[in-house]
Amino acid sequence: ASILVLHGPNLNLLGTREPEKYGHTTLADINQQLQDQASAAGHHLQHLQSNAEYELIERIHDARTEGIDFILINPAAFTHTSVALRDALLAVAIPFIEVHLSNVHARETFRHQSYFSDIASGVICGLGAIGYQLALTAALEQLAPE
Ligand code: DQA
Repeated sequence: ASILVLHGPNLNLLGTREPEKYGHTTLADINQQLQDQASAAGHHLQHLQSNAEYELIERIHDARTEGIDFILINPAAFTHTSVALRDALLAVAIPFIEVHLSNVHARETFRHQSYFSDIASGVICGLGAIGYQLALTAALEQLAPE
């Protein structure tokens, strides 16, 4: 299967960005781990981080033409703001899992609202970087033929 991992704004700074909230693992580490996990299971994985909403939207549009089977997305701050990104995921109708490093429900009230959770296959938050591995495990399980 083909998996696409999308990382929203400021996640390029992982490792140095508020490590008490987001941990010390870098985005490169996370991507490498996911790549290894996917290829070990015989799957293909691509990733993109962008600070620009339009770039993430266009990547989601392209995902349909490319035949991407599943998306893992941490929309970061766009989680709480982006109807456009939500609509893009609805438009391509590719199943996705929403991932957050921090427990957004234990933080500011504005982080309790997500434009993605009600249309996601599942949501993982508060477990740190391992959340991405758990999400990939779940995605591969969902894609496995019965
Ligand atoms: C985040 C949580 C968001 O509220 C925040 O804007 C982020 C990261 C997380 O992974 O915990 O940038 O998505």
